[in-house]
Amino acid sequence: MPLRPVVDRAAKGIVRAAEHGADVINLSLGESGLMARLLKGGILNQAISAANSKGAVVVAAAGNDSTALQPYRLDTPASATWTRRPPCARRAAPRAHDALRRAPRSGRHRRSTGPVPGAPARPATRDGRAGLWDGGGMPVPVILDCDPGHDDAFNILLAAAHPAVELLAVTTVAGNQTVEKTTLNARRVCSVAGIRDVPIAAGSDRPLHGAQDREQRVAEDIHGGSGLDGPGFGEGKPDVPQDPRDARTLIRDTLLAHPAPVTLVPTGPLTNIATFLLAHPELTPRIERIVLMGGSTGRGNTTPAAEFNILCDPEAADIVFSSGLPVTMFGLNATHQARATPDVVARIAALGTPLSRLCVELLTYFAATYREVYGFDAPPLHDPLTVAHLIDPSLISLVRAAVSIELTGTYTRGATVVDLQGVTGRSPNADVGMEVDVPGFWELIVEAVRVLGERA
Ligand code: BDR
Ligand code: CA
Repeated sequence: MPLRPVVDRAAKGIVRAAEHGADVINLSLGESGLMARLLKGGILNQAISAANSKGAVVVAAAGNDSTALQPYRLDTPASATWTRRPPCARRAAPRAHDALRRAPRSGRHRRSTGPVPGAPARPATRDGRAGLWDGGGMPVPVILDCDPGHDDAFNILLAAAHPAVELLAVTTVAGNQTVEKTTLNARRVCSVAGIRDVPIAAGSDRPLHGAQDREQRVAEDIHGGSGLDGPGFGEGKPDVPQDPRDARTLIRDTLLAHPAPVTLVPTGPLTNIATFLLAHPELTPRIERIVLMGGSTGRGNTTPAAEFNILCDPEAADIVFSSGLPVTMFGLNATHQARATPDVVARIAALGTPLSRLCVELLTYFAATYREVYGFDAPPLHDPLTVAHLIDPSLISLVRAAVSIELTGTYTRGATVVDLQGVTGRSPNADVGMEVDVPGFWELIVEAVRVLGERA
């Protein structure tokens, strides 16, 4: 059967199902190559976005080849319980660092599923319920996909420290440095912070189309030859091992093992996530949402138009933003507000633990390269905006917008084209971070370093 009529039929089916009040629309697709073509097809994306705006989620299910493509079917009641999109409207929440302060101060990384007094209200989840937290409840289950990286390192600390987050796994990707180095760095960070019960697996060593058009890009000018220059980690191996599985397998196993949908938090190039979505479309219902650092509503930092994470693998970013999954994007327009000024560094130094000293060394190195490369007075701690948002959604305002990835521009490849004015007519596909409560953000970071430093 020719592809175009099949896509048209699927798109119409999605819109019709949403108009009839469907919460979830399962789209049965064929092999991953077909899925990629369909998702990039525009028509289907528009239909998915239209369904999303009516409160429905479209999920890709496995099992059909292209000739047997089923346009849609309404999901069964059993799985329709977690199929509504989270609203992007912000809710007032108690300050998240209060929960961190009240967290247990001893013991290793906490995996409690019990209530934490004073914890913030959780954002609503796919089921449209008020949220799993509600003044005491389940932490948000998270997989961090990262390329440590100074700011990635702080994101690992924040996710491991805060009781509102359950850090299930860390996967690594080539980005700030080669994947061998970013994996070693993730293990180093977890070792010094006493995070010993979170598996760490290595992922892609190059972008999706790296072999065709470019070598893997690294950010040695910012993060140094090791990817985490500054602190003396010593020559010895970190005592936290590397998981024998690859990143894609660890993500799959983690999603299958966890009883509730899991939030993916990518803070490096999106290669692992895109590869996973293509390989396992049947598992998208087990992904709650994707909360990522990348892009910008304005200019870039690696080219005038493109931010580093997106530029490293624009095709992967395109797959993620076109996936139909709820995506929240924290780009440079937001992260540049979160600068590690000397007073913040002094507060971390005053904690007086080995971990706090290491964090000061990280920030000192990061400050020097940001001063040299960009002329910044203080370095922006990009990546932890993602986990900070999960902990306290009121910290960073969001706007819903259509985000497109520039794949072909002569000078603008890798740009995130964010339609803030709604002038393109494209349907919104992401919540985009805007204004940051900077003191609230740093309160979380400082408390995370304190809590882990006292436990380690
Ligand atoms: C992003 O690029 C990396 O260097 C940082 O870790 C962050 O994820 C900022 O552009
Ligand atoms: Ca990063």
